[in-house]
Amino acid sequence: MRISVFGSGYVGLVSGACLADVGHEVLCMDVDPERIATLRAGEVPIHEPGLDGLIRQNAEAGRLRFTTDTEEAVQFGSLLFIAVGTPPDEDGSADLQYVLAVAESIGRYMQDYKVVIDKSTVPVGTADKVRATVQAALDARGIPLDFDVCSNPEFLKEGAAIEDFTRGPRIVVGTDSERVREAMRECYAPYNRNHDKLMFMSVRAAELTKYAANAMLATKISFMNEMANLAERLDVDIEEVRRGIGSDPRIGYHFIYPGCGYGGSCFPKDVQALCRTARQVDYPAQLLEAVEEVNNRQKGTLFAKLNQALDGQLAGKTIALWGLAFKPNTDDMRAAPSRTLMEALWAAGAKVQAYDPEAMKECRRIYGERDDLMLAGDRIQAVRGADALVICTEWKEFRTVDFAWLKRELNLPVVVDGRNLYEPKALQQAGLLYYGVGRGDSASRCVRPEA
Ligand code: UDX
Repeated sequence: MRISVFGSGYVGLVSGACLADVGHEVLCMDVDPERIATLRAGEVPIHEPGLDGLIRQNAEAGRLRFTTDTEEAVQFGSLLFIAVGTPPDEDGSADLQYVLAVAESIGRYMQDYKVVIDKSTVPVGTADKVRATVQAALDARGIPLDFDVCSNPEFLKEGAAIEDFTRGPRIVVGTDSERVREAMRECYAPYNRNHDKLMFMSVRAAELTKYAANAMLATKISFMNEMANLAERLDVDIEEVRRGIGSDPRIGYHFIYPGCGYGGSCFPKDVQALCRTARQVDYPAQLLEAVEEVNNRQKGTLFAKLNQALDGQLAGKTIALWGLAFKPNTDDMRAAPSRTLMEALWAAGAKVQAYDPEAMKECRRIYGERDDLMLAGDRIQAVRGADALVICTEWKEFRTVDFAWLKRELNLPVVVDGRNLYEPKALQQAGLLYYGVGRGDSASRCVRPEA
């Protein structure tokens, strides 16, 4: 099939490369000429394991091409995927201007029947707006052409996006048209061989499915963080509780790791957008609003713990920071807990010595050169001369540490572990003051209810 993908960002590139890899002819479009030039030169502007190889192979085979030409992209594909960004508006709702601009171009340039596919995460009712926008552009040309709009949300995790695309548990398609069902069956047939993963439903149900999935996962995390904060006050180790409840198959072990809060490009934005949608239909979603509030509070706990450990004397101190990305295997720092921490430390007059296996360039891009930020070459250098250590991301290389060495390196023996990587006893035996998340240690009880 001939497929055009509008938006060569994270979702567009992964989808485009995976669809080309099974033999479709794919044209990825983006309005950013620099991005397209980079891609044409065989480089990939984002960090995602396996993606550069996949793009290179399929580009060399001639199945995957890149363009900045909207008209060419509209005319090329019979399937037109919209995978542009939907950043939050000032009020938290999804900003649809990029999605609707693509819809307008489709109406302006199409010459025959098209299936328009919303891949971006968009609020319930967006497909109707896309349909109306395409139709208005067609009407302006006075040409009566047929088209369909469907919703096909992605469920890609950063760091495992290719695996999720190729072997994900479901392919959701929202449509009421048999013609679209056939086209989508053909498009996904290579990824739908062993058992039927295609789920057809109404357009609005597909749109809500994406938000509901992310909101449910975010809820699990905020719930566990709430339990962890409670465990701290009750002198209970949340890790024991986590294993205790995870063993119930109705609860399960996935996504119940307490920590320093969720970040990334999806959960914070999608929970906010769903809260906003709920308000628009006069149903203030109390649980979802609390999920967000708990998460915001949780992102502040690392600073609160450090501040308590240092008796409020953070000015002039140097804090080592391991992990900047919002999770391992990505360089993405969007809404990362590390940012909340660094910004609070700087405001308190402390310096940061940070190390992350992938996100150093991204950190420099966001914060630039500043006297109170040193980007270290490795985790050892980050700790050298520092007063305390904070862990924000559970990269594998942080899991094993010589605690006796750490005790010698740190001026104050304080370790704040935002991901519960270590056994509190091991650090305490090495003479370190350990602050985990919900580890039942009275020293770590510093999430104040009013915070
Ligand atoms: C998420 C969804 O998983 C994916 O299906 C959707 O399409 C996009 O949003 P992603 O943002 O890449 O993917 O990250 P994910 O691995 O889900 O983690 C999100 C955040 O939750 C991270 O900050 C992570 O550290 C945190 N998290 C996750 C926890 O704090 N505890 C957990 O148990 C799991």
